[in-house]
Amino acid sequence: MSDFIRLDGRNTSIVLELSEDGLPVWRHWGAKVSVGAGAGPWSTGVPVPTFSLDVNQPLRLFPLFGNGWMGPSALQCHRGGTAWMPGRASCEIELGPHDLKCRVSDHSMGIVLDHSLSLDPETDVLTLATRLTNAGRDILDVSWLAAGALPLAPHAQTVESFSGRHNSEFVPVADKLSRSAWRRENRRGLTSHDCPPLASVLGANAGPNEGQVWAAQLAWSGNHFQAIDWHDDGRWIWMAGEWLAPGEVRLQPGETLSSPEWLATFSPNGRDGVAQNFHAELRKRSPLWRSGKLKPRPVHINTWEGFYFRHNEPDLKLLADTAAGLGVERFVLDDGWFRGRDDDTSSLGDWTPDPDKYPNGLKPLADHVTRLGMEFGLWVEPEMINPDSDLFRAHPDWVLGAEQDRPLTARNQLVLDLTREDVRGHLFGALDKLLSDLPISYLKWDHNRDLTAAVSAGRAAYRRQVLGAYELIDRLRAAHPDVEIEACAGGGGRIDAGILSRTHRVWTSDCLDAVSRTEMHRQFLRYFPPEVMGAHVGASPSHATGRSQSLSFRAASALPGHFGLELDPRQLLEGDLRKIRDWIAFYKSIRQQVHAGRVWQGEAGDGVVWMAFGTPQAFVLVIYRITPIQMRYPPVLRLPFVAPEATYGLTRIDPSAPFSGNHDQVAFRAPGDKLLQSGSWLREVGLALPFLRAESCLVLEARQS
Ligand code: DGJ
Repeated sequence: MSDFIRLDGRNTSIVLELSEDGLPVWRHWGAKVSVGAGAGPWSTGVPVPTFSLDVNQPLRLFPLFGNGWMGPSALQCHRGGTAWMPGRASCEIELGPHDLKCRVSDHSMGIVLDHSLSLDPETDVLTLATRLTNAGRDILDVSWLAAGALPLAPHAQTVESFSGRHNSEFVPVADKLSRSAWRRENRRGLTSHDCPPLASVLGANAGPNEGQVWAAQLAWSGNHFQAIDWHDDGRWIWMAGEWLAPGEVRLQPGETLSSPEWLATFSPNGRDGVAQNFHAELRKRSPLWRSGKLKPRPVHINTWEGFYFRHNEPDLKLLADTAAGLGVERFVLDDGWFRGRDDDTSSLGDWTPDPDKYPNGLKPLADHVTRLGMEFGLWVEPEMINPDSDLFRAHPDWVLGAEQDRPLTARNQLVLDLTREDVRGHLFGALDKLLSDLPISYLKWDHNRDLTAAVSAGRAAYRRQVLGAYELIDRLRAAHPDVEIEACAGGGGRIDAGILSRTHRVWTSDCLDAVSRTEMHRQFLRYFPPEVMGAHVGASPSHATGRSQSLSFRAASALPGHFGLELDPRQLLEGDLRKIRDWIAFYKSIRQQVHAGRVWQGEAGDGVVWMAFGTPQAFVLVIYRITPIQMRYPPVLRLPFVAPEATYGLTRIDPSAPFSGNHDQVAFRAPGDKLLQSGSWLREVGLALPFLRAESCLVLEARQS
């Protein structure tokens, strides 16, 4: 029997073998296994192929190209063109109950690699990270350092990731794994709409609620690279880490480079299983859950789509009055409040209230809002600057790429150089003043462009820019620990586990179309928990798509997330105002259950999708019909997660009107309607649904009786 290292979770194991040279070799990441007495060393189980190396090269914990390993490399570096190939290395291992620390010192390369792997036994999430130290005497140029390398079983089949753009986030992409490598590379300088740093790999027959799924996401808000490569023994090798620009990392002797953390998980229970693992892990890392308990997510009103740049204090006070009357709990003043900001061509950087719109500053409005019992929130975009701003006129050298001929603008703006301490200090001062002078309890922190010439003092600065932004947020949070922060980037351009460990919610998308949003939410929830998913009821027709939807459907689509309004209620008919009030009250009645439990999702077919929130004993079931019915009878809805031996009482709880038409013979015609059903029936046969109109929603509460 060889020397194995194993870490076990609830439903997963990782197994490594200590090879003769002392370096750990990957044997397994996936389903929970026991290592039988017959499990010998990898080298004895694999015959040496003809015309090959005389000794097989195993997949090491951190594979390095050269000297026998011809697969993908987890590190690429050199010292003026030399010392790029690994030589004899020594390895020290420290094994805890749930984690492994492994220090590899390679003397010929002059480097030390510190790998850490820690498997949380409650969440089943494995956190990997690597730190590289330049232990040599001269500069080490690094072009790639993976956070880790993971083996995927030969029965892994399909990799699912996202594409997207502003107004169309979380567009699912599925690729079959093959002998060709799978690659996703983000060079936009922040998390991005079109290539967020995450993916799921599905085994044969895996689906929403069943089958083996491996998934991983980087806790990083900048450039990234991830790849899955075929391995000669039929497995695949998955790596992820930061994408580095030429010359971006040149380590001086003694300097280190730390990879972002890579959160990886396996579940035998399909996409839902990995989603639940990620939700549990991100909750542990989130400032929202610091006390162990989630403060109920307050209902927002955000001024953006209702007012855009047309701020006017009396109108906004009226908006606050109406919002408070509807049950809104937080008023967020979006873009347009600061000096000279009448459209998106100017003023970013000048963070003082516009004297024409707010002759006495923001205090009168903020006080008005707080007197009404609501929290006051403010929009800022600290990392940005317009060339037409006093800040730019005073400090043209403060922008990234200042030394370029013409740094490219996007949305008319440039990016401040956050690698500079004086720039960060200035921004901290401006934000700290706002937070100290005004009763602000919430910041919506925006970032509305990709980075192009991220150059500081002639060197690529993508990585240092992200670290600068993190440092600024951390410093502000330390100075104002009670202020919540929302991360936004032209909608959902900065949604990742890195930003979520320091902010309290993210803005999912500027698209408030309820059909588009329902699909986005379904995809979002595969990686991130519902309580951080900003979701607002917008106007109809939708500003993003031009489609019109009923108020109830718009409200229902925002229901699972952190709920809010983003419209001018003065434009609404009296009936719709009443409906909004009802939906807000309804959201409040279910938010704790929706935001603190587990999430399951599925499709009943024929245009019906569902989400369930809570526990298998008690849950809220949200059922959407997206498209018109095509089948003669409505599809039944199977709930594969309920306890088969239990009996469930189901009650319709949404505040919509009773369904009209020939519905007498089916359950859930009107709110309050009940049904008793066995768990095994719900799992295997399914729940009979009423006829739902296209773009409508039914919400049930289910409890074991
Ligand atoms: C982009 C955001 O996604 C919007 O919600 C809004 O805050 C605008 N920026 C303001 O410029």
